[in-house]
Amino acid sequence: MNITLKVWRQEGPNTPGKIQDYLVKEVSPDMSFLEMMDVLNEDLVEKGEDPIAFDHDCREGICGSCSMFINGEAHGPGRGITTCQLHMRSFKDGDTIYVEPWRAKAFPIIKDLIVDRGAFDRIIQSGGYISANTSGNTQDANAIPIPKEDADEAFYAATCIGCGACVATCKNSSAMLFVSAKVSQFALLPQGKVEAAERVENMVKQMDLEGFGNCTNTGACEVECPKGISLENIARMNREYMSASLASSK
Ligand code: SF4
Ligand code: FES
Repeated sequence: MNITLKVWRQEGPNTPGKIQDYLVKEVSPDMSFLEMMDVLNEDLVEKGEDPIAFDHDCREGICGSCSMFINGEAHGPGRGITTCQLHMRSFKDGDTIYVEPWRAKAFPIIKDLIVDRGAFDRIIQSGGYISANTSGNTQDANAIPIPKEDADEAFYAATCIGCGACVATCKNSSAMLFVSAKVSQFALLPQGKVEAAERVENMVKQMDLEGFGNCTNTGACEVECPKGISLENIARMNREYMSASLASSK
C-alpha cells in the first residue's frame, strides 16, 4: 500500500507547529501503525531529516505511551486498542491519514507527537497509594475476604493504562475517567478504605490544579478508552467525593 501521512510537526513547546505531508511507500497491511512510522523515520534519517518524535514503549497495549490522534480519533479507528495495536490493514491503499498529538492544556506538547503527561503522575502522587502496616503483624492480603464483585470491579478499574485518550477526546479535556479509575481501584478494596476520603479529595484537587476541564457526561471518554473503563467509575468517584466532603465539613 502507498499511504500519505499528514503529520503534526512541532520543534518544541514554544514554537508554532504545522501539518507536514509524507508519502510512505510499500506499506504492508500486516505492519502495526508504529512500525509504519518506524519505516518513515528510517527514511527521514537516511535523507538527513529530523525523524518524527513519538512516544512508545511496550508496543503491546500495556504502557499507555503510544498516544496519537489518528484521523481525528484517539488511538485511531477500532475500539479497545491502543495505537501500537492498530494495524495498517485498517486502512486502504492510497489513503491519507492525519496524525496529531493529544491536544489538552494540561498535556503541553514537548515535540511533534509527544506530550507531557506529567499531570497524571502528579495526580497519582497526590493519592494513588495505600499505607501498609509493616510492623511485623501485617495481615496476609489473601486472608482478607473480598466480595467477588468488588474484586472484579477493582480489577477492571486497575486496567487503566494512563494513556490520556479520555482527556484528548473530551471536548472539555476532562480527566475524570482516568482519576475515577484510579480512585475506584482503591475505594473498592479494604486496603484502600483507610485513606479513602483523603485520597479522593486530594486527587480531585490535583486534577483541578493541573487545568483539566469538568465532566459534562458526554461519554466520549468511555467510547475511546482502549481499556473500556466505564463511566460507572465517575459516578463512584462522585459518591466518594461527596461523602468525603460531608465528613470533613462536620
Ligand atoms: S481511562 Fe482509559 S483512556 Fe483514560 S487514561 Fe485510562 S486507559 Fe487511557
Ligand atoms: S506502546 Fe505501550 S501501549 Fe502502545
